[in-house]
Amino acid sequence: MSTERVLTDQMVAEIKAYFPRYPNRQAVTLPALHIVNEHLRHVPLQAVVEVAELLGLAPAQVQDTLSFYGFFKQDAPGGETRAWVCRSLSCALRGGEEVLEHMCKRLGVRPGETTADGKLTLEFGECLGACEYAPCMLAGEELHTCLDESTADKFIDSMRSSS
Ligand code: FES
Repeated sequence: MSTERVLTDQMVAEIKAYFPRYPNRQAVTLPALHIVNEHLRHVPLQAVVEVAELLGLAPAQVQDTLSFYGFFKQDAPGGETRAWVCRSLSCALRGGEEVLEHMCKRLGVRPGETTADGKLTLEFGECLGACEYAPCMLAGEELHTCLDESTADKFIDSMRSSS
C-alpha cells in the first residue's frame, strides 16, 4: 500500500533552505513544521513522517515537538485565518471572554473550531503583549486592540465579505 506524499517540492526546498542556518538538522524541526503549516494549514501525520525523513530523525521526535506546541493542528486544516482572542488576565478583566463568547455565537463555533465556510478558526490565546489595549485579538498577523462586540462584529463582517 502506498501512502500519498504530502510535502511538495516547494516545501522540501523551503525546509532545506534552513539547513545552513542551524547547527544540526534536529534544530530545523520547528521551522519545518511552520513551513508545512503555512502551506497546508495543519500538519498531518504523513507530513510528520516526511519531515522526519528529511531531517534524519525518528517520526516520534518530530511528533514530540509538534505536540509540545498547542499551535499546530493535526487532524484537519484550520481556517484561512486563525484568530486568537486573548484570555490572559488584563484581557479577561476587560471583557475578552465575553467578546469571544459573542463571536462564537455569531460564527456558530466553539473555541478551537473552524467556521463552516472554512474562513476562520477562532481560538483562545494567551497574552499577546498588548495588555494596555485589552482586550486583544490576533487575527492572522493583525493585532486587534480594545476589542468589543461592535469591533468584533466588524471583523466578522469583513471576514465574511472577503473572497
Ligand atoms: Fe491580553 Fe496581555 S493579557 S494582551
